[in-house]
Amino acid sequence: MTLTAAIVLAAGEGTRMRSSKPKVLHEFAGKTFLNRVMDAVGALDPETLAVVVRYQAQRVAEAARSYDDAVLIVEQDEIPGTGRAVQCAMEQLGERGPLSGTVLITASDMPLLDTSALKQLLDYHRDSGDGATVLTTVLDDPTGYGRIIRDADGNVLKIVEQKDGNSSELAVREVNTSVYVFDAAVLEQAIANLNADNAQGEFYLTDALTVARQVSKVGAFAAPDPLSVEGVNDRVQLASLAKAHNLRVCRQWMLDGVTIVDPQTTWIEDEVEIESDAVILPGCFLQGHTTIAHDAVVGPYTTLIDATVELGAHVERSRVQESRIGREANIGPWTYLRPGNEIGTGSKAGAFVEMKKAHIGDGTKVPHLSYVGDADLGENTNIGGGTITANYDGVHKNHTHIGSDVHIGAGNLFVAPVNVGDGVTSGAGSVIRHDVPDGAMVYSENTQHVVDNWKPAWER
Ligand code: UD1
Ligand code: MG
Repeated sequence: MTLTAAIVLAAGEGTRMRSSKPKVLHEFAGKTFLNRVMDAVGALDPETLAVVVRYQAQRVAEAARSYDDAVLIVEQDEIPGTGRAVQCAMEQLGERGPLSGTVLITASDMPLLDTSALKQLLDYHRDSGDGATVLTTVLDDPTGYGRIIRDADGNVLKIVEQKDGNSSELAVREVNTSVYVFDAAVLEQAIANLNADNAQGEFYLTDALTVARQVSKVGAFAAPDPLSVEGVNDRVQLASLAKAHNLRVCRQWMLDGVTIVDPQTTWIEDEVEIESDAVILPGCFLQGHTTIAHDAVVGPYTTLIDATVELGAHVERSRVQESRIGREANIGPWTYLRPGNEIGTGSKAGAFVEMKKAHIGDGTKVPHLSYVGDADLGENTNIGGGTITANYDGVHKNHTHIGSDVHIGAGNLFVAPVNVGDGVTSGAGSVIRHDVPDGAMVYSENTQHVVDNWKPAWER
């Protein structure tokens, strides 16, 4: 079934978030609500994807356009309510010629909305021949949601909002998810005469169903997965939905053969990939496009952001961003890998080591208290504790090259740009300002002065 238009409602402020940021730009598992909903809806390939904005309109519109530059931005006017949002969208969609076919409408405060639920809703709508179909779910605690009111035969009569309902209506646990499918012609008629005659003084989209009943059949389809349609109105709901989703993600990885010692403290974003027999210890955040290979061990207390951890590597109590950790490499504890590192097979970046744009050859070790930035190190080289590459002269970032089979003493300082050849040995505390040829031994003067019988100031 072709989808003429999908309308994403994103004009609300989200007052209950108590935020300076519009609700739809809050993040859920690494992506904004808006992007997540646009992903779910965009996958249905609507002829037009419209996003309705008003509160911080520029900001929300920019976020929508940066996801998809073909998106139609609709500005809602000062009249509040979900119904008004749809009136504004339909008016603008109509400017491109009379609308026919099917229109999908969805709120944007449902971070787990998924394409499969929407597909099933569209199929149900087509097969039932109804002019309007609302996606519903049944909740143990329906507080805050619009209730689905049915007649004795089970037909949908209307939707009643929390603030407008009487006690028998509020006892209903079947709720409106704020996702609807309409035949375009039915929708035009259903929204023509909305009013603000209700507890919130808003144009309710929910009232459109009452009108739709007069011109066509109205149906309801229950979402197969209640979590996928849960709305977020405040930060308490945000935390609890994120938790529920994360536990599901962890559970699925465990069923796929990944050991997760403590799913309660392990947070895994949706695009992460993990091979079987990897072990994730407690307190880890696996984010972005991180991949973790077979037999790798991550954690405890490790953050990986767009990181690649290869076969059998171990990353402990560290933060790693946009870096590749080679097979059997050892990272941590307390290692900070900023973007752009390539750590070779069996290599090591140890305690209190920071690296940025460092290429570390196979078998090379940087075990303690070092900074390696804008540098490449050959194979089987060992860097003494407390060694620093001085890569920044205040204007430029300069490069350090250190060859293979090199033994750098403790506390060396490489003043970049500088090249150190293969097989070099350096003395402790050397300041290396000039290139060193292959096979050389290098040390720099560091005169030791001794003052006999020295008395500290407090004794003098
Ligand atoms: C709405 C529904 C309610 C449903 C619930 C599901 C109405 C009247 N009520 O209530 O039946 O159970 O969602 O979560 O529709 N928006 C606009 N323009 C506006 C107001 C809101 O675009 O003027 C957008 C918001 O950005 C949001 C969505 O519409 O994405 C829903 O708004 P919200 O204020 O969260 O409505 P609820 O009170 O949750
Ligand atoms: Mg809501």
